[in-house]
Amino acid sequence: MEGKMQAVYFDTPGGPENLYVKKVPRPLPKEGEVLVQVHASALNRADLLQRRGMYAPPPGASHILGLEAAGIVVALGPGAVGPWKVGDQVMALLAGGGNAQYVAVPACQLIPIPHGMSDTDAAAIPEAWLTAFQLLHFVAKVQKGETVLIHAGASGVGTAAIQLCRLAGAVPLVTAGSSDKIEFAKKLGAAAGFNYKEEDFGKKCLAATNNVGADVILDCVGATHWEKNLESLNTDGRWVVYGLMGSGHINGDLLSKLLWKRGSLIGSLLRSRSSKYKAELVKAFTEQALPHFTPGGPIHLRPIVDSVYPLQKIADAHQRMEDNKNTGKIVLQVPVPKL
Ligand SMILES: NC(=O)c1ccc[n+]([C@@H]2O[C@H](COP(=O)([O-])OP(=O)(O)OC[C@H]3O[C@@H](n4cnc5c(N)ncnc54)[C@H](OP(=O)(O)O)[C@@H]3O)[C@@H](O)[C@H]2O)c1
Repeated sequence: MEGKMQAVYFDTPGGPENLYVKKVPRPLPKEGEVLVQVHASALNRADLLQRRGMYAPPPGASHILGLEAAGIVVALGPGAVGPWKVGDQVMALLAGGGNAQYVAVPACQLIPIPHGMSDTDAAAIPEAWLTAFQLLHFVAKVQKGETVLIHAGASGVGTAAIQLCRLAGAVPLVTAGSSDKIEFAKKLGAAAGFNYKEEDFGKKCLAATNNVGADVILDCVGATHWEKNLESLNTDGRWVVYGLMGSGHINGDLLSKLLWKRGSLIGSLLRSRSSKYKAELVKAFTEQALPHFTPGGPIHLRPIVDSVYPLQKIADAHQRMEDNKNTGKIVLQVPVPKL
């Protein structure tokens, strides 16, 4: 399987214009890994940080961008466990390397693509949905009937979290930066939405919960939202920080406000987790959520694709995410190599 492949590349950290597609060596599957021919991949906020030189991949991970991919299994490495065989249609959670024609991935980080789902829809699932599933179930341990305040409600992770809340019997509330995004989030299942640029979401969240507050906050914003987050939090609530788009520097009396609410402040990162943890997450998601992507049941989960770009247009795709224009996922269509 040795040879070359096309992959997204940058020589120096910087803006989207630094990105281009280059021929690089094709990876070889190591112990326990599977080689996937990638047909589609998708963008994540972490890619923008990595491109700017602010988010190094975890040790041992590919330095090529891309935390998720969909395609077919083309080779099994030594000792690759699981049900996989050459020709299987799969989606993959990656620590890197997805923006390329081939990626080597631990077998336990593969998920079967539901029958009839396109590669571009499947590529929109792994990172956003596994993150949302992890935050709700592994980290916040959300319970039926609880209220969850989801920031960036129209983001890749936010659109997944709204739907997974409904699947869990919880009530999602969202914030977003435009009325269009809020309307979209409501159509997906959000009980209410607040425009954080125009409204005091702390007061609005209290009003929407009979002055009780949210039991869980999924926070990818950080510093700029902290006071309103504490106002929004129910007594004994769980405030899960998993991104810092609004900075991590806080000046103020955060700890006393947290203490009086008996709140829990929890940080969560998926990419740096062990392969064992990711395997458990993938297994739980595959068993509990994946069946609901097939229409027919009372709750139908849908990957939300904002737009699809050819791999060659990677700079335009990054610019769209950097401009906060996307609702749901920005997907990359990867050219299938000619044999
Ligand atoms: N910890 C983890 O394991 C993990 C894993 C995956 C993703 N994440 C994090 O999850 C977040 C969402 O990722 P994604 O790929 O789904 O993002 P995305 O689809 O690109 O959406 C991000 C949205 O966040 C909003 N936003 C941007 N800057 C903001 C700010 N300063 N204050 C408030 N809102 C802001 C914008 O929407 P508006 O128009 O509504 O402002 C933007 O469109 C990111 O912070 C990412 O780093 C964390």
